[in-house]
Amino acid sequence: MRVAVTINGERREADVEPRLLLVHLIREVFRLTGTHIGCDTSHCGACTVLLDGRPVKSCTVFAVQADGRTVLSVEGLEQNGQLHPVQEGFVQEHGLQCGYCTPGMLMTSYAYLQDHPRPSEDEIRHAISGNLCRCTGYVNIVKAIQHAAAKLAAPAS
Ligand code: FES
Ligand code: FES
Repeated sequence: MRVAVTINGERREADVEPRLLLVHLIREVFRLTGTHIGCDTSHCGACTVLLDGRPVKSCTVFAVQADGRTVLSVEGLEQNGQLHPVQEGFVQEHGLQCGYCTPGMLMTSYAYLQDHPRPSEDEIRHAISGNLCRCTGYVNIVKAIQHAAAKLAAPAS
């Protein structure tokens, strides 16, 4: 089947088998390997991307379901050489160790902060509860998201 997807602002097309998962379209066909596969069973969140602006676990979506829609993957967060504040937060607050969960954490927190600009710590922890990290204990991940929220709320200088 032919699918056409606008990913990170660029229209891409591919012929795919109907059973191909979106995460495999992104990684293996489009060669955007920032999106990770951790479990393949919708538990870990490493494969999270935004589909029409909403976070989805791309290991649970067929590529054909993304036909005609927009996808944002971690590669699309940086703009004109500038890291997005969520990326900056993870750097500044040491929000990663191995980095395997980080693309999914970034996409979930990016989407969450758009709708919840001033989250409490509890709300952040709830928001990322579908994303598992085996390294950090979450303390610095929460700080990273708080850093991003503060930066996004600050008036542009
Ligand atoms: S790889 Fe998709 S949720 Fe783990
Ligand atoms: S930083 Fe290693 S799994 Fe999260």
